[in-house]
Amino acid sequence: MREIQTQKIEDYGQISLQLEALFTEESDTLANLSNAAAALWLLLPDINWVGFYIRRGDVLTLGPFQGKPACTRIPMGQGVCGTAARRGETLLVPDVHAFPGYIACDGDSRSEIVIPLFSGDALWGVLDIDSPVLNRFDQDDQGGLERVARQIVGCIGGEL
Ligand code: SME
Repeated sequence: MREIQTQKIEDYGQISLQLEALFTEESDTLANLSNAAAALWLLLPDINWVGFYIRRGDVLTLGPFQGKPACTRIPMGQGVCGTAARRGETLLVPDVHAFPGYIACDGDSRSEIVIPLFSGDALWGVLDIDSPVLNRFDQDDQGGLERVARQIVGCIGGEL
């Protein structure tokens, strides 16, 4: 068990290094979010969707992602994404079908994690990751992905 946790922490360290390499010498928000989604898609095992929803007023709008086409607008407070955004905290959902108000974009998804992205004190958007495996994400994933989210926020510049 301990070995698995250590391995995961190292994996997120590797992901951070890869993102750092991608973000170096590029400050364009759209380019960096697009590459971040592609890198997470390649580096995270057992996922079927990864991407960003960006806050526009009271609605989260689909941003760069990898996976099947997804719903384009999620009102704040709705679904896993809108709930995480409204609460301003990570939501780890071991079984999406047990989450009241879950918005199904890909019928294969079984578990999900959504991490809010803040620009200063303001909610900027969310990082959303789906898995076809029940209970795919644990506390180590949450810690690792929250660090990744902070790294991504540090590398997004101005308007999209
Ligand atoms: N399941 C999400 C919707 C977005 S898709 O997973 C890409 C939700 O309930 O907010």
